[in-house]
Amino acid sequence: MGSAKSLHGKTVFITGGSGGLGKAISKELATRGAHITIFARRQGPLDEAKDEILAARLNEDQDVNAVSLDLADASKVDEAFRAQPRIPDILYCSAGGNHAENGFLADIEASDIENCMKNNYYSSAYAAKSAIDIWTADDKKGGSQSAQPRLRQIIFINSAAAFLGIPGSIAYTPAKCAVRALADTLRMEVLRYNSPASTYTIHCAFPADFVSPGFILEQKTKTPLTKRIQGLDRPYEELEGRFPSSEKVASLTIAAVDRGEFIICEDSFAASALFTNMTGPSPKRGLGIVDSIMGLLVGWIVWPVLRRRWETMCREDGEESRKRAE
Ligand SMILES: NC(=O)c1ccc[n+]([C@@H]2O[C@H](COP(=O)([O-])OP(=O)(O)OC[C@H]3O[C@@H](n4cnc5c(N)ncnc54)[C@H](OP(=O)(O)O)[C@@H]3O)[C@@H](O)[C@H]2O)c1
Repeated sequence: MGSAKSLHGKTVFITGGSGGLGKAISKELATRGAHITIFARRQGPLDEAKDEILAARLNEDQDVNAVSLDLADASKVDEAFRAQPRIPDILYCSAGGNHAENGFLADIEASDIENCMKNNYYSSAYAAKSAIDIWTADDKKGGSQSAQPRLRQIIFINSAAAFLGIPGSIAYTPAKCAVRALADTLRMEVLRYNSPASTYTIHCAFPADFVSPGFILEQKTKTPLTKRIQGLDRPYEELEGRFPSSEKVASLTIAAVDRGEFIICEDSFAASALFTNMTGPSPKRGLGIVDSIMGLLVGWIVWPVLRRRWETMCREDGEESRKRAE
């Protein structure tokens, strides 16, 4: 681990901690000495993830807990968070995905829109709310006795999809845009809670495609047009070699959180470039010079080219589908 920041004595909650990225984050943070609690619905993957996280621990006194619940149920999330032996120092919101809700608006069910919002947005919003409620109450009680302010961090695992409008991903993109709005707004709200006792920080990661159980399932449900637009219209074996692993994205994300970055696009230059044209209320990175110049280029050149290309692909896909139906 070398110079990796120690998390000895810290507690990390990870939603979606049984999935690809959530499990990889949990294991890496276990190697740094943290107590880990993971949350997801299915007991089988939770049990497997718990065993792997236990095996990754630095010390045997680190607790690892696995909690089965639907994170789209606000009262259950709050109950489960409060039932843990320790309050969290860090919350990673990684639950999400869209393998069951891929398709064009005309082809999916209204319930798919709702489920995608639940699994991606509500799972993040409810977990964040519970953590903020617990932390602000702890601050009022004078929770931190140490000379240093207690660091309280929330990291939202969003998606590069929040910068795009990819046809066939119409339930997912709005849910991920909502997560970004949540992160941007909460970043400012938590400034109200910073005090000599506690420092709150919010981070939002926008990974592009990476290999995980969810990614594998998604390849089976994406429309051919979506795959062509995303460059995913090739055999899975080829994709596996082309995209980073969950472990790689976990390491890059954790390192960016350690550096205090709010916007995290470490695994993909494309996502990083697209962000520059969509900064909105998010702070630009570094001194903001590169982001400002790149944002102009992306707005003037990249988006007009991409947009026209995708519009043409949509028209052609519609024509082909009408011909097939005749
Ligand atoms: N893989 C990619 O290419 C990619 C790219 C960009 C962004 N992302 C985002 O990165 C995050 C992790 O993705 P991944 O590929 O690692 O996903 P994954 O392997 O499918 O894992 C998803 C995790 O979320 C949990 N989950 C989903 N909905 C839940 C709910 N309502 N309540 C409780 N747990 C829930 C799943 O467990 P249960 O199903 O058992 O509940 C699982 O632990 C997601 O937010 C995804 O949108 C992924």
